Amino acid sequence: MARRLAPGARLVLASHNPGKLREIEALVTPHGVAVISAAALGLPEPEEPAPDFAGNARIKALAAAVASGLPALADDSGFCVAALGGAPGVVSARWAGPGKDFSVAMERVQREMAAAADRSAWFVSALCLAWPDGHAEVFEGRVDGVCVWPPRGGQGFGYDPMFVPDGETQTYGELSPAFKQATSHRARAFAQLMAACFD
Ligand code: IMP
Repeated sequence: MARRLAPGARLVLASHNPGKLREIEALVTPHGVAVISAAALGLPEPEEPAPDFAGNARIKALAAAVASGLPALADDSGFCVAALGGAPGVVSARWAGPGKDFSVAMERVQREMAAAADRSAWFVSALCLAWPDGHAEVFEGRVDGVCVWPPRGGQGFGYDPMFVPDGETQTYGELSPAFKQATSHRARAFAQLMAACFD
């Protein structure tokens, strides 16, 4: 059985990505949990050496929990393209380069998949809730869809403007934040986390 977060707990959000922070905060705060960001605590951004999302989420959450003495929640996520064998995947952030410019990352995806008939893609989010004593719980969510070109819409972040989720015609860049918040890979991982670990 999963370890549960104590009612009224303070939770560190172990991410330095403003788009992710916005989405995670909106998922967590309705549950009466007070959140504090890793950046506000001056915590460093750890390396992400694991070959999978769950492993990196665990590294980030445990680093923040141990450094802060509080439970910490981390997301490791990425954009996976079928025609690219699942790339960029765990290195999705790196494809944007040091300037974190996702128009560069999206152009690379489009360039590398341009000749492919299969435009399918998916987002994955692994959420890890970790405690200072080293205990950790990890949950994974996924949303499937297709890549479109050119990118469309100014909502969301990262690869959102080139991703149309299955059943929709608009990209996550065009769909409302509330829609993404209810249907995304992160929302799906969070629903499992909430059921297992939140009162
Ligand atoms: P990391 O988890 O910090 O390694 O970064 C994950 C990267 O995947 C982000 O910087 C985004 O580029 C991409 N990504 C993850 N989730 C989303 C999403 O919901 N929309 C768009 N891009 C995402």
